[in-house]
Amino acid sequence: MAVQINPSILSADFARLAEEAKAVQGADWLHVDVMDNHFVPNLTLGVPVVESLARATDTPLDCHLMIEDPDRWAPQYVEAGASSVTFHVEAAAAPVRLAREIRAKGARASMALKPATPIEPYEDLLPELDMLLVMTVEPGFGGQAFLDIMLPKIRRTRELIGKHGLQLWLQVDGGVSAATIERCAEAGADVFVAGSAVYGAKDPADAVRALRAQAEAATAGASWACDH
Ligand code: DX5
Ligand code: ZN
Repeated sequence: MAVQINPSILSADFARLAEEAKAVQGADWLHVDVMDNHFVPNLTLGVPVVESLARATDTPLDCHLMIEDPDRWAPQYVEAGASSVTFHVEAAAAPVRLAREIRAKGARASMALKPATPIEPYEDLLPELDMLLVMTVEPGFGGQAFLDIMLPKIRRTRELIGKHGLQLWLQVDGGVSAATIERCAEAGADVFVAGSAVYGAKDPADAVRALRAQAEAATAGASWACDH
């Protein structure tokens, strides 16, 4: 299974987003953190910026909505040009309906869990999703320390994906770096968001390559990645 590296532009220079997108050429997706200062105590960007960024780069956009009322707003991010839209289950009134709407509009539908939200109650929803995001920090800010107490949840989520024979991607976000990415991959993650570890590096494209190499090696050695 191929691993994917998604640099988070939260740690980029917001005045130079088009250049910052080019600085991570080779990345699979650009991770765009949308925060509304209600669901999380921080404010970033919205639909108009996503629209402009989608025009400015060929790298597909992975929009992570840390907002209240995603049922109302998420479809607009698909229209703005996002190829994947992640909503938080804690904020969604009707997650199944919302995932179906995102898919119907032509994007990948993804659902995120905050650290204190378990995966088990959502087992039956997994077939409705293209990706599940297990947050490895409390959402809201870049540069926080990785919560390794999330590793068992990543493992259990990977087991559920296997149990149901799904193609679902498993994303981790928060504190992912050279020091933590291998543990995430071994536990079962295959899509890795990295903000400060990429944009804080001297050469962001190089950081993407290095993270990918680490994640690939760790995935190759992981039991969940075996076909037999
Ligand atoms: C945090 C955001 C992350 C953030 C990660 O709430 O969802 O995407 O950019 O930043 P790092 O990789 O620095 O922890
Ligand atoms: Zn994020």
